[in-house]
Amino acid sequence: MQAVILAGGYGTRLAPLTYTKAKPMLPLLNKPMICYIIDALPSGTEIIVASNYRNDEIEEYFEENGINAIINNEPQPLGTGGAVKYAEKYIDGTFLVLNSDIISSLNFRKFIQYHMKKEAIVTISLWPVKNVEEFGVVDILSDGRIRKFVEKPSKEQAPSNLINAGAYCMEYEVLDYISPNKFVSMEMDIFPKIIDDGKPFYGYTFNGYWIDVGRFLSYIEATKILLKEKGLKYLVGENCKVSGVLKTSTLGNNCEVGKNALVKNCIVYDNCKIGENVEMENCIIAENCVIEENVRLKDVVVGEEERIEKNAIIENKKIWSKPLPEGYPKKQIGNPLKRRK
Ligand code: GTP
Repeated sequence: MQAVILAGGYGTRLAPLTYTKAKPMLPLLNKPMICYIIDALPSGTEIIVASNYRNDEIEEYFEENGINAIINNEPQPLGTGGAVKYAEKYIDGTFLVLNSDIISSLNFRKFIQYHMKKEAIVTISLWPVKNVEEFGVVDILSDGRIRKFVEKPSKEQAPSNLINAGAYCMEYEVLDYISPNKFVSMEMDIFPKIIDDGKPFYGYTFNGYWIDVGRFLSYIEATKILLKEKGLKYLVGENCKVSGVLKTSTLGNNCEVGKNALVKNCIVYDNCKIGENVEMENCIIAENCVIEENVRLKDVVVGEEERIEKNAIIENKKIWSKPLPEGYPKKQIGNPLKRRK
């Protein structure tokens, strides 16, 4: 079976981190997030990475780490449906389509078995949420068949509390619904058509955890969950010198944390220097940054190669002092079903 991993989005909600790194390559516990999906796939699955933006980074990492995959680079972003159509030549039967920025406890074997048992043409994974008004939810029958999607309903009018969890199992005939070489959204353009045609379209609800790592807070949340899963209070990369205190945080390779510094709920990439007496909470610091002494940062995201001058107090801000990288979009063009208000 093939798995198409959607990995070509710009990840605008994670800018400035994604100005200098492809979203699937952003580290979660010092490992690219796309690797968590690959590790969870049943052995023998053929992996097709549908890439575009910064695809060479993914290709290089896979090569260096012996990860066997076809990197299918689109000539331009084709959307979540267009990217799957573009991978058609590699698909030969039932296949998976997976968002590269979703970390979850979904058991792929059970998911595929459910799809087969239902004789579905599409099965999508579903996750229950409390705040239905921020998402698209499904209208679903008791046997798991989906009747329609309802965008951001009020609590009273919501037909369920189940949202699209970003993993799909599909039959080859879905490819016939997608026009080639065009920007097509699987969720907005294709799923409604398949349901309208009366084809068996099912939902599979699972337990455990599910995180859309496409936003800063959920990226930090995913880090906390994975640390807990591994029984770790924090994670320190190779060749680091830590004199301060780390709490539920991860530190990349070659980092320094000065005396009396407190780093809480943070993700720090490689080659960063955090000075003495710094206090940081809910922050993400990209590679090669310097945070000078006595700085206070809360809910701050710092792009690559930035320096925060000593004694600065910054809250709720994205730090990026350089021009926008060429070709990077000014606004989100990704999957609207995953957008929140
Ligand atoms: P935002 O700009 O923050 O919305 O991020 P995004 O561009 O990654 O969009 P979104 O999170 O909605 O995308 C869901 C998944 O589809 C992610 O894994 C993306 O990498 C992927 N994706 C989105 N658009 C494309 C595309 O045009 N081509 C390919 N190959 N993948 C895409």
